Amino acid sequence: MGNLFDLTGKTAVAIGGNSVLGASIAKGLAAQGAKIAIVGRNMEKAEAVTKEIIENGGEAKSFQGDVSSRESIEKLASEIEAWSGGWDILLNAPGKNSATPFFELEMEEWDDIMDVNLKGLVFTIQTFAKRMVEQERKGSIINISSVSSTTPLSKVFTYSASKAGVNSVTQFLAKEFAPYGIRVNAIIPGFFPAEQNRKILSKDRIESIMNHTPMNRFGEPEELQGAAVYLASDKASGFVTGTFLRVDGGFGSMTI
Ligand SMILES: NC(=O)c1ccc[n+]([C@@H]2O[C@H](COP(=O)([O-])OP(=O)(O)OC[C@H]3O[C@@H](n4cnc5c(N)ncnc54)[C@H](O)[C@@H]3O)[C@@H](O)[C@H]2O)c1
Repeated sequence: MGNLFDLTGKTAVAIGGNSVLGASIAKGLAAQGAKIAIVGRNMEKAEAVTKEIIENGGEAKSFQGDVSSRESIEKLASEIEAWSGGWDILLNAPGKNSATPFFELEMEEWDDIMDVNLKGLVFTIQTFAKRMVEQERKGSIINISSVSSTTPLSKVFTYSASKAGVNSVTQFLAKEFAPYGIRVNAIIPGFFPAEQNRKILSKDRIESIMNHTPMNRFGEPEELQGAAVYLASDKASGFVTGTFLRVDGGFGSMTI
C-alpha cells in the first residue's frame, strides 16, 4: 500500500496557520513532506511557526493575509503562486468568537465574526480553488468547523451560526468541486484552549464542557494532525468528500 499519508511533492496553504490549532495542523502536514505557506494576519506568530517547520527539516514561508478583505485574499493568492507555482491542499483555520447575550448583539459584532468565519471562508475558497481549477490541480480543502455547527453552544450565538454555515459550504462545495477532483471536508474539533476562546472558558463553562466530554479533558492541538493529514492525502481519503470528521473526545456523541 505504500505510505498512505505521504504528502511529499504537495504544496499546502494554511490560512490561519498562525493560530493555535492551525499551526499544529500545518506542522503535521509539513512533517508528512508538504511544502507549506503559513498565512496569518499576525506575522510574528506566522514567522515563528515557519521557523519551527524549517528547523525540523520542512519547507515553509510566511505570508500576510486578512480573509475579511477581498483585495488581501487576491494579493495573497498571487504571492503564494509566485512562491510555489500553485497548491494542492488548502486549510481554512481563521476564526473569531464572542459571548455577547443575544439581545445585546450589535450588527457590527455579527458582521465582524461572519466576515472572518463565513464570508472570509467563502471568498478564500473561491479565490484559491479557482486557481486550482485553472491549473487543473486536484486536491483537498479542509475547513475547520466546530461542535457548535451541528448543535449550537450556549452563549456563542453568532459563532455557532457561522460554523453551521461552514458545514453547509463544505457540503455544497464537495458537490461543486467533485468534477475537478477537489475534495472538500471539515474537521469538527471539540474543545482546545486557544486565544479566541480564552475569555469564554470560565470555570463553570469548563466544568460543563467536561461533563459533556466522555474523555473528560481538553484536546491537545497535536491531536488534530492525524485527521488533517488523512483528509489532505488523496491516497488515504481519495473517496472522501463533503464529510465532517469529529476530533472531540466524544463531545458530539453526548446529550446529557
Ligand atoms: N480552540 C477550540 O477549542 C476550537 C474548537 C473548534 C473550532 N475551533 C476553530 O479553530 C480555528 C483556529 O482557532 P484557534 O482555536 O486555534 O484560536 P486562535 O485564537 O489561536 O486562532 C484564531 C486565528 O484566526 C485568525 N484571524 C482572525 N481574524 C482573521 C482575519 N480577518 N484574517 C485572517 N486571520 C484571521 C487570527 O489571526 C488567529 O490566528 C478557528 O476556526 C476556530 O473557530 C477552535
